[in-house]
Amino acid sequence: MAKEIKTIGVLTSGGDAPGMNAAIRAVVRKAIANGVKVKGIKKGYQGLLNEEIIDLEKWSVADIIQRGGTILGTARCSEFRTEEGQDKGVEICRRHGIDGLIVIGGDGSYRGAQALSKKGINTIGIPGTIDLDITCTEYTIGFDTAINTAMDAIDKVRDTSSSHERCSIIEVMGRNAGYIALWCGVANGAEDILLPEKYDYNEQNIINNIINNRKRGKTHHIIINAEGIGHSTSMARRIEAATGIETRATILGYMQRGGNPTCKDRFYASIMGAYAADILCEGKTNRVVGYQHGEFQDFDIEEALAMEKSISEYQYEVSKALSM
Ligand code: ADP
Ligand code: F6P
Repeated sequence: MAKEIKTIGVLTSGGDAPGMNAAIRAVVRKAIANGVKVKGIKKGYQGLLNEEIIDLEKWSVADIIQRGGTILGTARCSEFRTEEGQDKGVEICRRHGIDGLIVIGGDGSYRGAQALSKKGINTIGIPGTIDLDITCTEYTIGFDTAINTAMDAIDKVRDTSSSHERCSIIEVMGRNAGYIALWCGVANGAEDILLPEKYDYNEQNIINNIINNRKRGKTHHIIINAEGIGHSTSMARRIEAATGIETRATILGYMQRGGNPTCKDRFYASIMGAYAADILCEGKTNRVVGYQHGEFQDFDIEEALAMEKSISEYQYEVSKALSM
């Protein structure tokens, strides 16, 4: 028989993402509607180990749906990777009467959730990362806001690149995942898109491309570079030396992780948060919420982590064809 859930905790972990607040709000309000108490754990697993735990009521999450960041704060916690750290986390949950936990974050955070689940604390993960690099879901909270922020910024850089007839390397986030780069590359009409999953480290191809485009009369050359590929600034220096065309690097950085979430992020976060609260209250554990084929679903964490995600070959080919 499923364990009776009276009190749940919610935390945000890993890199923050716009829409995390909307997810927290939904978790709190749906759990309370289900007759369950909610505690907020500040600063991810680190805050759990430091016992930074607060009571959350319906009104505690008022006026946050539109705000970027996370009201609970987030952190990375190496101690939680250890057996001792996880045991301490379980003991703290028990002491605070937390029977179940919702973890909003990425793959790393689910491993922590899985460890807690194995040790008797029911846990459910919600995908919150701007990188879109969680395999069991077609959507991760924060991605839509991040790509729109990046797209707007790239449009602006493009204006000045054209005026000055420069080449621009614009670095977007995604240390191991090229989804932001691919989407913005297509949406901004970039001439080159460098993805960690596809890059062959052949800079000469890019140089040839720039020279050929300039001969054809193009006044700018936009290269969207995912964070995981080399150093944009030194790449710009080498490209300028090889082509004789002024080349500048712009690193968009953390601006992509902030800002008011888009409607899409608020909506997905709200449904995913409510869904996670429902299945946790039903007694489910070791699950992660995902969105696939038009439906919100939940998957076993172990199976979700074992799934492989790759950039669509077709989308990549199209991105190349359209940049010609
Ligand atoms: P993300 O959740 O965005 O992938 P991280 O990989 O940094 O971010 O993971 C966030 C946190 O999850 C880590 O700081 C750590 O506390 C916890 N975590 C990551 N991997 C594990 C693991 N193998 N076992 C237990 N906890 C983990
Ligand atoms: O949120 C995802 C992400 O932005 C990655 O693209 C990037 O590699 C990482 O977070 C950097 O985060 P931090 O500097 O906070 O460790």
